[in-house]
Amino acid sequence: MSITLEAAPLAIAREGRIAVVTVDNPPVNALSHALRQALWDAAEALDADPAIDAVVLTCSGRTFIAGADVTEFGKPPQPPHLPDLVARIEAAKKPWTAAIHGSALGGGFEVALACRFRVALASAAVGLPEVTLGIVPGAGGTVRLPRLVPPAVAVEIATTGKPVKAPRALALGLIDRLVDGDLRAGAIAFAAAMPALPPSLRDRAPLPAESGFWEEAAKSVGKASRGETAPLRALACLRKATEASFEEATAFERETFLELRSSPEAAALRHVFFAERAALRPASIRGVEPRPVRTAAVVGGGTMGAGIAAALRDAAIPVILVERDSDALARGIGNVGAIFDGAVKRGRIGESEAAARKAGLSGTTDYARLADTDLVIEAVFEELSVKRAVFEALGRACRADAILATNTSYLDPRAVAEGLPDPSRFIGLHFFSPANVMKLLEVVPTPETAPETLATGFALAARLRKVPVQAGICDGFIGNRILKRYRAAAEDLVRSGADIADIDAAMRNYGFAMGPFEAQDLGGLDIAFLQREGARARGENVPEALGDILVRAGRRGQKTGCGWYDYAPGDRRPRPSAAVSALLAPAIRGGELPRDIAAHLVGLMGTEGAVILDEGIAARPEDIDLVEIHGYGFPRRRGGPMFQRDFGP
Ligand code: 3HC
Ligand code: NAI
Repeated sequence: MSITLEAAPLAIAREGRIAVVTVDNPPVNALSHALRQALWDAAEALDADPAIDAVVLTCSGRTFIAGADVTEFGKPPQPPHLPDLVARIEAAKKPWTAAIHGSALGGGFEVALACRFRVALASAAVGLPEVTLGIVPGAGGTVRLPRLVPPAVAVEIATTGKPVKAPRALALGLIDRLVDGDLRAGAIAFAAAMPALPPSLRDRAPLPAESGFWEEAAKSVGKASRGETAPLRALACLRKATEASFEEATAFERETFLELRSSPEAAALRHVFFAERAALRPASIRGVEPRPVRTAAVVGGGTMGAGIAAALRDAAIPVILVERDSDALARGIGNVGAIFDGAVKRGRIGESEAAARKAGLSGTTDYARLADTDLVIEAVFEELSVKRAVFEALGRACRADAILATNTSYLDPRAVAEGLPDPSRFIGLHFFSPANVMKLLEVVPTPETAPETLATGFALAARLRKVPVQAGICDGFIGNRILKRYRAAAEDLVRSGADIADIDAAMRNYGFAMGPFEAQDLGGLDIAFLQREGARARGENVPEALGDILVRAGRRGQKTGCGWYDYAPGDRRPRPSAAVSALLAPAIRGGELPRDIAAHLVGLMGTEGAVILDEGIAARPEDIDLVEIHGYGFPRRRGGPMFQRDFGP
């Protein structure tokens, strides 16, 4: 009989009078129960060891300790608890130096703050991302941070959750030194030099806040947190840290942490966290090597083509833009350039970076230029004949192993691919507008698509920092199909007598940036109208939508100055419209309205999602949630319609 022992999550080596504690708890050195215990034991053993003067804490693998082990959050906590471990390391008789590579996040950063010194590679980052998981730091992060940096910096770090890169962390005093080259050796040399010992953070006073600071901070954090609970609670913890004793502030933080950890919002955000990570590695491509994408082309330089080209350039992939004539090409190149110019204006990239991104884009009207391109994404008009002609040309011009993708929203990709010499290289890659911003990518294989082609779609998404979701073929794939159901359900409420503005307000209160009618006014009512008309022309039985009545009356949305609402010239604020009430009056039948409009509409999204799962159009409920969150503005803190259906109130 053989017994498998769990691998120890850390090792201790001695370098002269320095002990090097190396954490080895893959994949991200999270502070599992076993690791907390091992670190505790290490602190005890090294304090008792007369041959040791100082300790270096380092990690193997891709990162420093990335935080508490989120998978343990649903379980009863086991001692040693993280706050106790952090206090133990802080109280160690031999000073600890954290040697940081990758990310020191959450509990990982809290452990680093307990160390007397912190050194890091320039590529490292530190931060308190807890708010992104719906919680606040639970091991003294909000209490120690304001003892190290001014309140404004502490507020930024703990309420946005954004990591701080090492060079800035050095300037802020969050770390003591940057190490070039070998981190372990650099950290040992630092510790061996026996720098003057600063007081532990526990023994320091918090940096003072100016009068009125917390009130102002509450306003701006409240505004930026889009209805999420945790950022304002983190702010309250920081304020407590500057106004109460260390012990009181620690107890307050812990109480807040434990309360939020079991909240529905934190459960929803954890669900999204794990769904996003799983999305990049679906079972359908396990073990399949993607094809290399060194160069790409985009056919069509309109709204979508330009955004896709920009997204590819943002990922440093050289792009050829193909248009139907030289005027359209000039417009297309201009569209992409405008995206980079906008990024410069908003301070996202510098002039030289914009110039480099533009320089990596070339244009042509001649398909022969694509003879050596690895990937082509088509984004021309949504007309089957136009798309077929494009793929016919691509089939002739491209290498036999080039991957050919369509960005169609509603056409059947099988029909688009018909006649291609090698349909195994064909796939749907459905981007969302604006394509360089929106995170969602629906990856739509046809029955002929080769696994390698599918894997390339996912690998591309990872390079573009998008969230890929595999979708089966049906009208609207996953997202637009649910959108259709959602809009029809919202119209149904209007027919039952609900006020258009009340429906929009209900969805905004739920957490969407816009309600269904305001959103249609922004995007235009005509696209869906033309689609319905097209279906009717093909003999399909498509019932009259309320939107059809409005479009026929010339109300196509903001671009025509009126849609579901009226708009004053130059003013995007929607005003309830007497003309709309009159136009729709004959269609209003009255009836019973749901008590909670948002719960009703989200419930129907979930119902459609369940059918989508049954049909195999989506593989997992969390994929549907990702589609809604990253493509349609579903509030992340609610976890998505399937999360609500399965775990909601
Ligand atoms: N707990 C448990 N598992 C975690 C984890 C965590 N804190 N962080 C990451 N993982 C898992 C992921 O689920 C993934 O698992 P899989 O391979 O089975 O899918 C694996 O680790 C690798 O994660 P990534 O794909 O995200 O790896 P990257 O290399 O791209 O990124 C990272 C590394 C930047 C560390 C990123 O994983 C990350 O941001 N992690 C979350 C960090 C975080 O939020 N920490 C705070 C936790 S809360 C806390 O500490 C509370 C404390 O105050 C008490
Ligand atoms: P668009 O009208 O803005 O751009 C289409 C571009 O294709 C034009 O620049 C046109 O000159 C060019 N074009 C037309 N025929 C061509 C040909 N034979 N060869 C080369 N270029 C040609 O359209 P948009 O909105 O960019 O849509 C493109 C595709 O993306 C459509 O399939 C659409 O369904 C899909 N899509 C659109 C979304 C959106 O929100 N607009 C979202 C997701 C997908």
